[in-house]
Amino acid sequence: MDYSLKLIGYPIQHSLSPWIHKKFLECTNLKGTYTLHEISPDASFEENIINLKKEKVDGFNVTVPYKQDIISHLDMLDDTAKQMGAVNTVVYRDGKWIGYNTDGIGYLRSLESKYPAFFQNKSKHILLIGAGGAARGIYYALDRAGFDYLDIANRTKASAEEIAKLAELSKNTNVVSLKEAEEGIGNYDLIIQTTSVGMNPNADASILSFSQLKKDAIASDIVYQPLQTKFLKEAEKAGAAIHYGHTMLLYQAQYAFEIWTNKRVPMDDLDIQLQAILEGR
Ligand code: ATR
Repeated sequence: MDYSLKLIGYPIQHSLSPWIHKKFLECTNLKGTYTLHEISPDASFEENIINLKKEKVDGFNVTVPYKQDIISHLDMLDDTAKQMGAVNTVVYRDGKWIGYNTDGIGYLRSLESKYPAFFQNKSKHILLIGAGGAARGIYYALDRAGFDYLDIANRTKASAEEIAKLAELSKNTNVVSLKEAEEGIGNYDLIIQTTSVGMNPNADASILSFSQLKKDAIASDIVYQPLQTKFLKEAEKAGAAIHYGHTMLLYQAQYAFEIWTNKRVPMDDLDIQLQAILEGR
């Protein structure tokens, strides 16, 4: 089998996904290609998708701004994609186009690979900062993984409340303001930063400011440009263990590749290699 895999989105010229999936194809000794299919906002999305389907692709990733638009062109969605209302991975299987969302599982896998012990006690206190698409995926995955205490802090409280509804029956989630999160930051075992604040070119910004964290806390930022965000630098100073954003990218891709090929790629030193690329080494 010769896999034909693609990425659709706009703009995508600087995407790291082709690099990652070429590595995966090499590691697994599978034949195939992973190429960019950029769809400009001026073009007809529908026509592009019709053409893509005609090209007999085996699967593709979907990124901004098409994660919702793609849904009406698919035959089925998996539960997570349904819950998220957003798709980032599509596979052509048994004559059907099926949509998945790998954000949450990808994040969870990345965290578990670095901090497996964290998953042994599900009553840890977790703070999720932000309430966009990524936060939604991560919240849902943490809920499914059985964690009991998930709080959400966001500038716009209503969006955080929307996310908290996802787990209304299974959890008591406190929705807090950013200020309240800052004041209570010392209560959390894991703090996950999912907003775009601190991303290049605004690397001198941080969503929260703090100097003390709980002993053995883990600080995680899904921003990976730069890798060492201001948020992570402060957290490190405050004694936290650090979890970098580029690993979510890798494990999300690992899960997508598994959906397409049924093969789970061992990560080996790919995170170090990707880190080197991101740091321009
Ligand atoms: P994604 O889907 O990639 O996660 P998004 O939907 O654009 O991204 O979500 C962006 C998140 O960053 C939101 O939580 C947003 O807060 P609001 O819901 O209040 O908009 C947060 N965010 C972005 N810029 C921010 C800023 N300057 N200050 C505080 N929060 C910010």
